[in-house]
Formats: sequence, C-alpha cells, structure tokens
Amino acid sequence: MIEFRQARKEYGDVVALEGLDLRVESGETVCLIGTSGSGKTTALKMVNRLIEPTSGSIFVGDVDATKADLTELRRSIGYVIQRGGLFPHMTVAGNIGLLCKLEGWEKRRIRERARELLELVDLPPDEFADRMPSELSGGQQQRVSIARALAFDPEIMLMDEPFGALDPITKTELHKEFIDLKDKLHKTTLLVTHDLAEAFKLGDRIALLHKGKLIQTGTEEDFLERPATEFVEHFVGSQLSEL
Ligand SMILES: Nc1ncnc2c1ncn2[C@@H]1O[C@H](COP(=O)(O)OP(=O)(O)OP(=O)(O)O)[C@@H](O)[C@H]1O
Ligand SMILES: [Mg+2]
Repeated sequence: MIEFRQARKEYGDVVALEGLDLRVESGETVCLIGTSGSGKTTALKMVNRLIEPTSGSIFVGDVDATKADLTELRRSIGYVIQRGGLFPHMTVAGNIGLLCKLEGWEKRRIRERARELLELVDLPPDEFADRMPSELSGGQQQRVSIARALAFDPEIMLMDEPFGALDPITKTELHKEFIDLKDKLHKTTLLVTHDLAEAFKLGDRIALLHKGKLIQTGTEEDFLERPATEFVEHFVGSQLSEL
C-alpha cells in the first residue's frame, strides 16, 4: 500500500504539488496522469525519497517513508524510468544484477536471478543476457529495466512514463506484457503517463493531476461518465479525440 497524506512540495515560490491525498491499495495499479509540469514525477519520487516533501507524509505499508531507513525503503520499491536508464557499459545481465551485486550476492545467484527475470519479461536469457543495451531495441531496453526493477521482488513498483518513448506497436506489445505481469505478480503500482488511453488500459484507477492539484480519482467509467470538473471533461475529450 502507498498512501500520500497531505504531501506537498514547494520549490521556492513554485508549488509543484499541493497537499496530495492519494492511496494505492495493495496489489492495485493507479495511473497518475496530467499535463507536463502537473507534479506527477514529483509525487512519484517522494515515495522512494528521491524528493523530500516540504510537508505532509507518504506511507509505504506501515512505514512513514520520510522517516524510513533509506536502503530498506529503496529495496522494497522497484523504479522504472522513461528510456530505461540502463548503464550503457554493462551487459543486460550486469544491469539486472547490479543491485544484487551491491548487496553482496554470490555471482552464481545473481546470474540465476538475472536469467529468471529475463524469462519473466519474455527475453530468452541465452539470447539476451550478454548483450549490451545498445544492441537492444527501445522496447527490449524497457523490458530489461522492468526486470531490473523486479530484482528484489519488491512490493511496490514506481514507473515514470515507462512506455512513453516507444512506437505504437511496441507500446501495445509492452502493454500486454505489463497486464500479464500485473496478473502474475500483483505489485502495488503507481504508473505515470501522459496518455489517457494507456491509463484506462493499465490502471485499476486513474488519478488526474493539474498544476500540482489532484483533480479527480476514479475508474475509466468515472472519468467518462462523471467528470468532476469542466477541466476533466475537456482533458478527457481532447485526449480521446486524438485516437
Ligand atoms: N528541482 C526543481 N526545482 C524547481 N522546480 C522544479 C524542480 N523539479 C520540478 N520542478 C517544477 O515542479 C513542477 C512539477 O514538476 P514535475 O516534474 O513533477 O512534473 P511532471 O508532471 O512530471 O511533468 P512531465 O510530464 O513534463 O514529466 C514543474 O512546474 C517543475 O518545473
Ligand atoms: Mg515527469
């Protein structure tokens, strides 16, 4: 479970996020959507404490993230960013196993875990384990970064536009993969996207931010049939007319 309690972030005069109240239930996927600069990444990074809130708190299970042991907190959270963020000079297996290595796992155990994770994201390990990131397509790189985020089998997944930079066909493939993984692993997931169709497809619920403020939380049906404000109606209308 992830719970934001009046989580607020200011940068000088800029309020990046007003007091955010949002709860992601265990095993649930919530898609955080909104225009550029609305505070999505800020909200996400507060969970694994890449950003500290100006006020308020974030709970990860029973633990107040702002007070938690940082190493333990990060180990319980998988983090995937746009374009993967893979280390270019390390092989696929090296990237996936990096955190395990830093934890002092034995070589063989790391190797086995990397292979298991590659299987999980549908990349045959014999073919992919020893490749360099530059020898992969964008979609394959994203699969590897998802595998890497799953290394410690975390309860929680944070994903910041994980499918943002992909072409439509690859995106659709990875959506399918994501839904398979979701059904298999039941992670508590907060996924940031710009794309409402993607949010509808992947999210159990959607949370819409605008200028640092949470405007509406709900299901696809809520957004389509019961938009909370005129802004939501306009946002939904303009996004869906682009399809
Ligand atoms: N380090 C910083 N210093 C000052 N302002 C910042 C900083 N980081 C973010 N901001 C501001 O906070 C607001 C929210 O930024 P954030 O990155 O959370 O938006 P976002 O919704 O993720 O946008 P995008 O969709 O473009 O990624 C923006 O106005 C941004 O300019
Ligand atoms: Mg962002």
